[in-house]
Amino acid sequence: MEELILTAIKAMSNAYSPYSNFKVGAAVLTECGKMFTGCNIENASYPATICAERVAMTKAVSEGYTNLVKIAIVCSNGDYAYPCGVCRQVMSELMPDGEVLVYSSNENKVKQYKVSELLPYAFDKNNLEEK
Ligand code: THU
Repeated sequence: MEELILTAIKAMSNAYSPYSNFKVGAAVLTECGKMFTGCNIENASYPATICAERVAMTKAVSEGYTNLVKIAIVCSNGDYAYPCGVCRQVMSELMPDGEVLVYSSNENKVKQYKVSELLPYAFDKNNLEEK
């Protein structure tokens, strides 16, 4: 199996999800081949929860790795872990030409999408320009 998915599976074990009991793991790959991992981190104030994908992407960017090419996502129920809308928006900002891999351990299959396929007509920097 692709190393990025195996890395996401490992990262999922660090999930802090006492409220949902739903674990998510993510691993993002930079252009230079470095990987950054993330897991979901929940909070008693529910909206303060952070998704695994955003943890992985923000770790990479905060370490100076801004060229993100691919992200793998897995979750504990064994189904395909499709990213939430907020994570799609952040992917569209930080890796607009990137690829998203979702793995189902139930089906033992990987599906691959472009970020732009998962969030068509995204709101981006062009929308902020004076017209
Ligand atoms: N979650 C993620 O980590 N990524 C997503 O894209 C969807 C949702 C987490 C947040 C929360 O801890 C749990 O899954 C249930 O929503």
